[in-house]
Amino acid sequence: MNLDCLRIQGGKPLYGRITISGAKNSALALIVGAALGEEPVVLENIPDNTDVHVIFDLLREVGVTVQSLDKGKWSVDGSTLNSSKASYELARKLRASFYLAGLLLAKRHEAVVPLPGGCFLGPRPVDFHLKGFQAFGAEVAIEHGCMIGKITKPQGTRFFINRSSMGTTVNLLYLAVLTPGTTILENAAKEPEIVDLAVMLNCMGAKIRGAGTDVIRVQGVKSLHGTDYSIIPDRIEAGTYMAGAVITGGSITVENVILTHLKPIIAKLKEAGAYIEEVDNGLFVAGPEIIRSLDVKTLPYPGFPTDMQSQMMALLTLAHGTSIITENVFENRLQLGAELKRMGGKIKVDGRTAVIQGVEKLYGASVKALDLRSGAALVLAAMAAV
Ligand code: UD1
Repeated sequence: MNLDCLRIQGGKPLYGRITISGAKNSALALIVGAALGEEPVVLENIPDNTDVHVIFDLLREVGVTVQSLDKGKWSVDGSTLNSSKASYELARKLRASFYLAGLLLAKRHEAVVPLPGGCFLGPRPVDFHLKGFQAFGAEVAIEHGCMIGKITKPQGTRFFINRSSMGTTVNLLYLAVLTPGTTILENAAKEPEIVDLAVMLNCMGAKIRGAGTDVIRVQGVKSLHGTDYSIIPDRIEAGTYMAGAVITGGSITVENVILTHLKPIIAKLKEAGAYIEEVDNGLFVAGPEIIRSLDVKTLPYPGFPTDMQSQMMALLTLAHGTSIITENVFENRLQLGAELKRMGGKIKVDGRTAVIQGVEKLYGASVKALDLRSGAALVLAAMAAV
């Protein structure tokens, strides 16, 4: 199948039952975090997607031993790490490639890592990461599109992250766990994926307290050992399937989910008229006859996730009445409005705000996925289109 192009025949309700994969964003952070250890870490529930394979290749390139053990089960052994340089060819594919900066600074006290690529969601600088590294005593410079970092005498620090940032929190946690002394990260990201990382690192012998709150305290240790760890399910994948049932007027059971992680998504889908019930190991979701309009603002966790905003926009094109979306994290994500308009959606975008006037029907059209989540949103819209 040519995955660059999907042809979707819409107009049928989505029915069924689906087991949700391991969380992509957790997997990326935990795979790199596993390489901080001096023994193999066995990770389970790793999803099979391109980003995960790129991060494995990036790690192999710096000498980490990565092995597939079984379906979704991988071993990552950081004891063989022997290089401080990541290549542009791989790093340009993925924003999370910049996690190698924290890994290499923590373990090798030097890092040459290209500025990252990834989905085009608007400016995605790494200034918070760099300031954080400097707070630990690192010297960092940007030369020829690469971060060149060196740290001669790493020291625990107190650092306030300018704005709740997942990536910065991940990178600074990597450095903190192997840095002598106490580190306090203030205004840290509270996402479930951060908690997942902290729990795995603690299983490897790290001393992290407060993950899931905005103040994380870390007592540095000399080295980390191996462990077996299973990563959390993907709340965005679950939310996307749930939105699929709602937009098509079908019903679906999503299995292997953590209810708490889905609360902001459940609240908005219910407001749109969905019927949602907790069942054994999952959630049953049924779409309403009429989707209700609503307003939604994206915010760091536990707010409504920016990674579900595009799917919500697709859903609201078919709502009764006018909805307003405010995108507070990655404003370029609202560019999806232009694609949905090609399918008959009535959407006006101004800066960080989209005003959506619900229509009765969406129609088939040729459209372009601008990033991962907008691709998912267009699939949802296409499933509902006549
Ligand atoms: C991660 C997720 C992504 C999700 C996002 C927000 C991964 C691999 N990706 O991305 O799916 O949409 O969190 O939940 O886990 N910022 C700066 N300077 C920096 C760092 C960030 O200005 O140095 C800004 C960003 O441009 C953005 C905001 O801070 O506006 C939050 O970004 P951040 O949480 O860091 O996102 P990522 O970690 O890149």
